[in-house]
Amino acid sequence: MLRVHRTKAQARASYDRMSGSYDLFAGAFEKRLRNLALARMDVAPGETALEIGCGTGHCLQQLAETVGPDGRVYGVDISPGMVAASRKRLARAGLLERVTLYRGDGAGLPLDDGQCDAAFMSFTLELFDTPEIPVVLGEIGRVLKPGGRLGVVSLAREEPLSTMVRVYEWLHQRLPRLIDCRPIYVEQVVAAAGFRIAHSEREGLWGLPARIVVGIARG
Ligand SMILES: C[S@@+](CC[C@H](N)C(=O)[O-])C[C@H]1O[C@@H](n2cnc3c(N)ncnc32)[C@H](O)[C@@H]1O
Repeated sequence: MLRVHRTKAQARASYDRMSGSYDLFAGAFEKRLRNLALARMDVAPGETALEIGCGTGHCLQQLAETVGPDGRVYGVDISPGMVAASRKRLARAGLLERVTLYRGDGAGLPLDDGQCDAAFMSFTLELFDTPEIPVVLGEIGRVLKPGGRLGVVSLAREEPLSTMVRVYEWLHQRLPRLIDCRPIYVEQVVAAAGFRIAHSEREGLWGLPARIVVGIARG
């Protein structure tokens, strides 16, 4: 798995710059996968859900609609611009009162132990450097209740590497700020963090493998 050389400050600045136009560039495949992954988590009315790397708030909106007036949603993003975009979307949808937004790093969550029934990451886990992936997943394990669900959709690294993955990784190494997501061993990192794998599904995104994984937090 390739390492990430961009700093958090660079990531924040880069997503801030993109926050106004991000939705114009998000492709149909990405949207489809994020919706599929959300559906696989089976979030129910009244539950508490968290999204790390909430971007412009599409999934936060869906989560807020699903948990309903008796549920709660938390959104965390490192970019103030993305948090502002999420806030705007939720306000427009009349859902802001169900959602608490935090500008912060997913590697240190401002939530209590066992506070959430479900946690979600869409094309965000692969932005964390390799040694930090267990830290983020450990934080999610901490804030989930025993039996809580973690849903991840991410670019996936699978052997033998396809030509497309080799080209993509080559581009990532040369243009790490532009091609910032890199494929990771999604199922393996979730399992290694102590989650029981309840679901794992392979998909393709522009010829790149992507994977939707649902892990269950152990008590
Ligand atoms: C590729 S975008 C995906 C956005 C959204 N999840 C989606 O699928 O449309 C990654 C998001 O993660 C956020 N992000 C990057 N590094 C982060 C970190 N260390 N902690 C929290 N959020 C982070 C970025 O600001 C950005 O909004």
